[in-house]
Amino acid sequence: MKRRNFLKNASLTGVGLAVGNTLVNCTEKTSEEKKAATTRAKTALPLVIATWKAKNATAKAWDVLQAGGNALDAVEQGCMIEEANEKGQSVGKGGLPDRDGNVTLDACVMNKEGNCGSVVYLQNITHAISVARKVMEDTPHVMLAGKGAEQFAVSIGLKQENLLTEASKKAWEQWKIKSEYKPIINIENHDTIGMLAIDKNGDLSGGCTTSGLAYKMAGRVGDSPIIGSGLFVDNEIGAAVATGLGEEVVKTVGSFLIVELMRQGKSPQEACEEAINRIVSKPNSNYKNFQVGYIAVNKQGETGYYSIHKGFSMTRFQEEQNENIQSDYYNKDN
Ligand code: GLY
Repeated sequence: MKRRNFLKNASLTGVGLAVGNTLVNCTEKTSEEKKAATTRAKTALPLVIATWKAKNATAKAWDVLQAGGNALDAVEQGCMIEEANEKGQSVGKGGLPDRDGNVTLDACVMNKEGNCGSVVYLQNITHAISVARKVMEDTPHVMLAGKGAEQFAVSIGLKQENLLTEASKKAWEQWKIKSEYKPIINIENHDTIGMLAIDKNGDLSGGCTTSGLAYKMAGRVGDSPIIGSGLFVDNEIGAAVATGLGEEVVKTVGSFLIVELMRQGKSPQEACEEAINRIVSKPNSNYKNFQVGYIAVNKQGETGYYSIHKGFSMTRFQEEQNENIQSDYYNKDN
């Protein structure tokens, strides 16, 4: 490789040049890099992070971790808090329906062994995350959809219930008056809940769960149940999870991309920023009209988070502190 290209590549992957035993940075640190370094400083384990304002969910996951539970138990039980919260209209019970009035859920989990399970277009079952876990643990498959997923949920003892609450029905009836379908940049400041945890053994797991886009076409599935897009976990490297307009996440296989960038030496913050860049820098990207946000953690417990627009946040429970932190974002004009 020519020296000039080597220097360019070294700087792109965040790799410094080793001189003797000293690591020398190729360039002065920008303010963004300084911020990333601050983000990196906190590494205590265990930890749990989640998309958006999800302090109740991270608190539950933290309790599981403190009690010696593993990261998979923590993310499942943390996500269940939001699924059961009828006031949250983008996850589980109370989720906004598709344009025909049906609430359909997508969810997935991935564990430290790289095993995964997911459900798509699941109806009448609140805890999609638990069904996804059981798909991983109790079936030879990775993904179950629709009626089959619902039948499986019933077979493992989950109860069927109407997920369309009065509040969500009212919102849908209001929407039907104009029936205008356009993705909203931040759906009531909350969307998919994605959660990543590292337990006391240093092992990683992740999960995400959503009712998807409000008033979507019947049958529409987003990124959240698609392993590699909505979620990816590699216990050697780290994990990432997405929120926002799933179509754009799927087109760039965002979560897998972030983990692979971390494998190449990027910090979680740098990797999230690069994944957002991939979306906004596509030819003819209309990113001004939609939101995507990512959170990530590496094996050392360093975290990162970044979104296209203002308004995204991450909740992190680490070192006895449960905090919601506004994300930095790409489109500073909005
Ligand atoms: N990120 C959730 C969805 O697009 O369905």
